[in-house]
Amino acid sequence: MFLVTGATGGLGRRIIRLLCEREQPTRAFVKLTSRYGEIENRGAQVFIGDLLQERDIHKACHGAEFVISAHGSNDANGGDAQSLDYRANIDLIDAAKAAGAKHFVFISVLGAERGYEDAPVFKAKRAVEQYLKTSGLNYTILRPSGFASNLLPLAERFQQTGLYLLIGDPKTRTSIVSTDDLAQIAVAAATTEAAHNQTFAVGGPDILERAAIPQIFGRIFDREPLVITPPLVVLDGIRTAVGVINPEAKRALGTLRTLLANEFFCTPAEVQLLETTFNIKMESLESFMRRYLTP
Ligand SMILES: NC(=O)c1ccc[n+]([C@@H]2O[C@H](COP(=O)([O-])OP(=O)(O)OC[C@H]3O[C@@H](n4cnc5c(N)ncnc54)[C@H](OP(=O)(O)O)[C@@H]3O)[C@@H](O)[C@H]2O)c1
Repeated sequence: MFLVTGATGGLGRRIIRLLCEREQPTRAFVKLTSRYGEIENRGAQVFIGDLLQERDIHKACHGAEFVISAHGSNDANGGDAQSLDYRANIDLIDAAKAAGAKHFVFISVLGAERGYEDAPVFKAKRAVEQYLKTSGLNYTILRPSGFASNLLPLAERFQQTGLYLLIGDPKTRTSIVSTDDLAQIAVAAATTEAAHNQTFAVGGPDILERAAIPQIFGRIFDREPLVITPPLVVLDGIRTAVGVINPEAKRALGTLRTLLANEFFCTPAEVQLLETTFNIKMESLESFMRRYLTP
């Protein structure tokens, strides 16, 4: 039995789809308020609980052989990295171990090891990685770059307006990963011996300057992009203003700032390692976007 947290998220719902297609017994951890109709229809067992409740985590792990941690904090759930990205994962690791799980996949983030101090999600991921490595559980840590699926709503807006907002230096580089490839890797990790007790950087095959993204949208929709490029100081100003009334929100924005101010890409050797270990051909960003956006 696979237990998947974050099962209604961008990555988690793809993991659930794959597991159900392969007829693997699957338990999806969802909140009562989550939109989990698709998951139920696909035949996964739905476990309703709250990752902020240790008791729910222990119950969900009962009988789980393989655990995939794919939940995380985001704007919609209040961006509480300490509770969701750190505490809930520590509890999940402890519960998986107590339940005798055979393998644990942790979705971290590219650059987790760099020690960004002003980015709560990065700090939480790094601490969880360290905890997992010494937990005694058989594990795989995946450190993905930005997900291609995050760009789908931006592309749809671009299709209507031709506008693309690019905050920060357009020349910073990224290797956005196909969220479908990442889901495949997360599922394969449990049964791929070469992936056991290993950490992988996970990115797409191309190292792109961020300025290339609106160009890709332009090619797909045959429309000249109008790119608006506010400098990072604009975000800094917003952060300072937000911090006056909500210091927690200011801290959470530190993760976004870190993402916008730094480069996150995989080297060709890292991509090749993924392709050979998981027997996969990593998909380019343009191919992913075309698959989802063109009839
Ligand atoms: N997105 C990226 O570009 C990116 C890049 C690198 C790493 N990552 C990491 O990859 C993982 C997956 O990211 P994603 O973008 O797919 O996530 P996402 O779309 O933001 O989904 C987050 C998931 O966590 C669930 N969740 C939140 N609070 C919960 C709670 N208290 N109890 C139970 N479930 C809860 C959400 O449920 P609801 O649907 O009900 O809100 C949702 O299923 C995360 O660990 C993230 O840090 C993401």
